Amino acid sequence: MGSDKALLSFGEQNLLQRALQTAAAAGAGKTFIVGPRDRYAAFGEVVEDVYPGCGPLGGIHAALRATETKLNLILSVDMPLMNEKFLAWLVEQARATDALIVVPDALGGLQPLCAVYRREVSAQAEQALQSGDYKIGNLFSQVPTRQISGREIVSAGFSTAVFKNVNTAEEYQEVRRQESVVSAHDVAVHEKEHRAPVNEAKPYIEFQDVHKAFGSNVVLDGVSFDVMPGETVCILGRSGVGKSVALHEIMGFLKPDKGRIWVAHEDITDYGEPDLERIRKKVTMVFQNGALFDSLTVGENVAFPLRERGGLEEEQIYQIIDGLLDMVGVREFRDLLPSDLSTGMKRSVAIARALAAQPDAVLYDEPTTMVDPLMAHLLGDLIKKLKKQLKLTSIVVTHDMALAKKLADRLLFLHEAKAIFFGTFPEMSKCQEPIVQEFLELDSMDFEKYFGARRPPHQPRFEAP
Ligand SMILES: Nc1ncnc2c1ncn2[C@@H]1O[C@H](COP(=O)(O)OP(=O)(O)OP(=O)(O)O)[C@@H](O)[C@H]1O
Ligand SMILES: [Mg+2]
Repeated sequence: MGSDKALLSFGEQNLLQRALQTAAAAGAGKTFIVGPRDRYAAFGEVVEDVYPGCGPLGGIHAALRATETKLNLILSVDMPLMNEKFLAWLVEQARATDALIVVPDALGGLQPLCAVYRREVSAQAEQALQSGDYKIGNLFSQVPTRQISGREIVSAGFSTAVFKNVNTAEEYQEVRRQESVVSAHDVAVHEKEHRAPVNEAKPYIEFQDVHKAFGSNVVLDGVSFDVMPGETVCILGRSGVGKSVALHEIMGFLKPDKGRIWVAHEDITDYGEPDLERIRKKVTMVFQNGALFDSLTVGENVAFPLRERGGLEEEQIYQIIDGLLDMVGVREFRDLLPSDLSTGMKRSVAIARALAAQPDAVLYDEPTTMVDPLMAHLLGDLIKKLKKQLKLTSIVVTHDMALAKKLADRLLFLHEAKAIFFGTFPEMSKCQEPIVQEFLELDSMDFEKYFGARRPPHQPRFEAP
């Protein structure tokens, strides 16, 4: 689609060149530029309007008339945030349907100038133009059309900001600034708001009578618990009791021998890898050892899920990395390798990386072991902040009672392969199981050790979180 703004130049390219490059990178074959030949001939093969002055419908008609391919992507030049991954995905949607037009309905309405049309639509467009009906919306109601909602676009991992239009160089700079300066937190919240509404009344994660053994080692023997959307459940228990195994089952890395596991409101028990991959976009895990890539810098580690997700430009990725590292307090270490960091710092980076995937839920495996009490305290505060700000559903596996007290809405206590307690803190202090009482006693001792006289004498030992 040509217009004067096509030649607005930014850096080494103009908008037209940029659009052509994006379309080519998305796998477009032959490309036509619709507009005056004298102005655009230098940039590629031009087709001119057959019905000039009829707006976008005229341009779409001219393009479809010129083409010989079945599926045709129409792309306006004034969407500088558009990217090839989104376009490739859009074409894929068009391939998967019999509809003659596939058009996004996002960012304030239908986007006919970033849509896929089958060649035969040119006939209907011609009819409309001949009858003087230039309204593109009427074409969508006459021709079998699949509209793709903003929610669908976001769930596929893209931002609806790709459709933002610009008319001047100043607007372009402004769009770039808004997009790239947006903090990681804003991105996460924005995308969350646009996601399909979660069913608040149903658990987000649920174990139903889960059994798991490795040979004769029975690790989970009929364990049931649930985590509601936005809730934080802490899993407690002695070393080797099966806490990490439970998290790995939620991620689908391990399968239960018996029982059902629900994650993101879906029964994932029998899921294969493709479905699990989808679930792992919604639920991410911060591993016990951090599991950072040793050869990548801190920044590149955090960028990893962003690059996998696609749809972001390098500049945006860098801004989001900085936002996330800022959020977890390690921004100044962006260019260091994980081996240059302390264990606590590595955890913070691992948390930033987990958040980069913009999950609904995060599973933390022992976030505060092997770090000093002050770092443990800071990590606890960080997890609490994220839970509140991002409304994350969380499971925190820990031996650290101070952390559990800070974070848990409910606690699950595993012992000898059973869930011997599941409930709130006040309920836990009433639990008669000796091992549960031992954990509570231990907490009291640690508390004295770390904070000693600073603890007010009247403070109840187990306050509700
Ligand atoms: N993939 C596996 N194959 C065989 N046995 C395993 C596997 N994963 C875990 N186990 C066994 O399952 C039991 C529970 O392990 P898990 O790692 O869940 O313990 P944990 O509660 O997380 O302990 P810690 O607090 O030390 O991290 C252990 O006996 C462990 O040896
Ligand atoms: Mg473990």
